[in-house]
Amino acid sequence: MKKMIALASVLALSGAAGVAVAGGQDTYMKSCNACHGTGAAGAPKTGDTAAWKDRIAQGNATMYEHAIKGFKGKTGMMPPKGGFANLSDDDVKAAVDYMVSKSK
Ligand code: HEC
Repeated sequence: MKKMIALASVLALSGAAGVAVAGGQDTYMKSCNACHGTGAAGAPKTGDTAAWKDRIAQGNATMYEHAIKGFKGKTGMMPPKGGFANLSDDDVKAAVDYMVSKSK
């Protein structure tokens, strides 16, 4: 618990960018990790740089659109917002940013 409080204050000190990353991680853990943490259902696994290389090369706009609206690619089916319709577009974008930052 102490550790979490320390982390929260570090993020608070690091300003808006830090907060955005923290928000993305939170959304990612709740809504995306089930597939992207393990590669379930053909999802590109977070941290698998080879699986992400060509996706990252498409640019963020395409990845955001695919994550928000859903898309069917060569390896499987990405549901719109990972199946969590309650997420805002910005939540999804932050989660994409988090995933991509771990996968370069
Ligand atoms: C039910 C499983 C599942 C969940 C939950 C899920 N994804 Fe995916 N996602 C996939 C699959 C499968 C693909 C690969 C589709 C393909 O390329 O064939 C994918 C691909 C992606 C891509 C790459 C898109 C591209 O253009 O190559 C992004 C970005 C992404 N997901 C973001 C997210 C985010 C953000 C969340 C959480 C809000 C999430 N996903 C939740 C299954 C999932």
